[in-house]
Amino acid sequence: MKVLILATPEAAVAKAASLTAETLRAKPRAVLGLATGGTMLPLYARLRALHAAGLSFAGVTSFNLDEYVGLGPDHPASYHVYMRSALFEHIDIDPARCHLPRGDAADPQAEAQAYEARIAAAGGIDLQLLGIGRNGHIGFNEPTSSLGSPTRVKTLTESTRDANRPYFTDADTVPRFAITMGVATILAARHCLLLATGAEKAEAVAAMIEGPLAALCPASALQLHPRATIVLDAAAASALQLQDYYHHVHPEGEDRDPV
Ligand code: GLP
Repeated sequence: MKVLILATPEAAVAKAASLTAETLRAKPRAVLGLATGGTMLPLYARLRALHAAGLSFAGVTSFNLDEYVGLGPDHPASYHVYMRSALFEHIDIDPARCHLPRGDAADPQAEAQAYEARIAAAGGIDLQLLGIGRNGHIGFNEPTSSLGSPTRVKTLTESTRDANRPYFTDADTVPRFAITMGVATILAARHCLLLATGAEKAEAVAAMIEGPLAALCPASALQLHPRATIVLDAAAASALQLQDYYHHVHPEGEDRDPV
């Protein structure tokens, strides 16, 4: 794992955006795995600014991590709407190549399997962007998810439903289920880039990086990944035991190889 610690959330977001841009410059037809959640909003704002400055997404194919079961693509709290308004409508990506699971599919399990097949047919994911839940989830792989899981339907924990309640109006209840890429689906990406900011993520981040490999913290599965880059601000890094070492290897979050 490459652990990059930046002083501020703004610097962490800028680092994650520049690593994403680097991937696109090296491979304009890259397949990007995309994430949602509050953490990603400033990252997408930064990518929009990079696009305005000339970065092209015209050749990119994208696959989002997850979607709520029961929400159609125009539901205001759906990740379809989130992605259109945070990113897709502002860049030159081809909407036909932007993939999210259909939350309103008649058979969500079949949709999950078909989604996994679509990722494989696109040649797999080059760069998977990830956030982390306060309970250590990635995508919607809640604690005790199989570390070998494919894309499937997961039952959300009450804590995850509570964390996402602000995105829903009073009239809407937060869905109880989601279609999510599995832990194995995520691990199959050629590069994983996880961004975490803020003190409320510190415990989950410590469990992911320094805790045991355990289904109780699905993000700890990234310990198995040969190329996982974790970008943190100081607050999200604050519970790590080996902070001095990470600063020593990557001063100010510098992304370089040691020799
Ligand atoms: C959500 C998403 C995850 C996201 C996480 C953290 O439930 N399914 O992909 O990483 O929770 O969200 P936030 O960045 O808002 O804390």
